[in-house]
Amino acid sequence: MRILCIGDIVGKPGRRVLADCLKGFTREQSIDVVIANAENAAGGSGLTPQMFDKLRRYGVHGVTMGDHVYRRAEICQTLATSDRIVRPANLPAEAAGRALTAFEQDGRRVAMFSLLGRMFMKMPVDCPFHAADAVLAQVPEDVKVVVCDLHAEATGEKLALARHLAGRVSVVFGTHTHVPTADEQILAGHTAYITDVGMTGPYDSILGRQVKPVLAASITGMPHPFDVADGDVRMCGIVADVDDSTGAATAVQRVRVDLPPDSGEIGDGEGDDGGA
Ligand SMILES: [Fe+2]
Ligand SMILES: [Fe+2]
Repeated sequence: MRILCIGDIVGKPGRRVLADCLKGFTREQSIDVVIANAENAAGGSGLTPQMFDKLRRYGVHGVTMGDHVYRRAEICQTLATSDRIVRPANLPAEAAGRALTAFEQDGRRVAMFSLLGRMFMKMPVDCPFHAADAVLAQVPEDVKVVVCDLHAEATGEKLALARHLAGRVSVVFGTHTHVPTADEQILAGHTAYITDVGMTGPYDSILGRQVKPVLAASITGMPHPFDVADGDVRMCGIVADVDDSTGAATAVQRVRVDLPPDSGEIGDGEGDDGGA
C-alpha cells in the first residue's frame, strides 16, 4: 500500500492547501492511506472536533498530535471516541486519548501511534523508548502495517528512536520542527524514515508564524502575539510504499505540493479558527 504522511498542519493556510489539493494528489499518486499531524491546525495551536471532522472530509484518514495535543480542551471528546486519532503514547496512562489505534481504510488495516521527544521539549513525558516497546506489544497480531509519528526537536534523539524502531515499524515520520529534512531512507530493510517531514502551512514565515512579530520578540525580548502567516503555502510529507503482507517499506520519497499563488484569500471557507 502507499501511505502519505504529512507534517504539522498550521492554521487556516494548512487546512486550505489540504482542502484544495489533497484529494487530487492522493488520486494522482494512488495513495491508500493518509496520516497527518494536526497539532497546529486550530489557529496554529491545538485541534478542535470541528477541524478534525474537516480534515477527515479533506481526505485525512488518521490524525496524530504532539506537545499541543490538549491546547484545545474540546478535542478530548474526539480523542475519547474516534479510532482515527491518537495522543502521544508516552504521556501518563491517565491522559485522555489512545496511545495506539488500529483502523481499517478500504479494507487495509493500519496501526498508528506517536511519541514525544524529551530533548529541548517543555512537556515532561515518560521515556519514549520504553513507551514504544509497550505500544508495539499491543499491536494486533494480524496488523502488519504500523506507522509512528516521531514528534521531537532534536535530530539525534529522533535518529536514536528511529533506530530503536527499525525493523518493527513500517513508517517513522518526524514532525514538530516544521522544517523538512532531506534524509529519507529505509532502515533495516523495513522502516521508511525521515527526521522531519516539515509543516503543511505557510513557508513565508518563521515556523508558520508571521515574521515581523517573531523578529520583534527576538530582538526586544518583549512578548508579541505570533499570528499565523499566510504566504507560500505548501503541503509537505513523504510517500512510503509498504508491503501489506510483511509491513516492510520498499520505497520512500519526499513530496511537496504548493498551493497555487492565485488561489485567492487564505481560508478553507468553513468558518473561523476561533483565535490563534
Ligand atoms: Fe508543530
Ligand atoms: Fe510540536
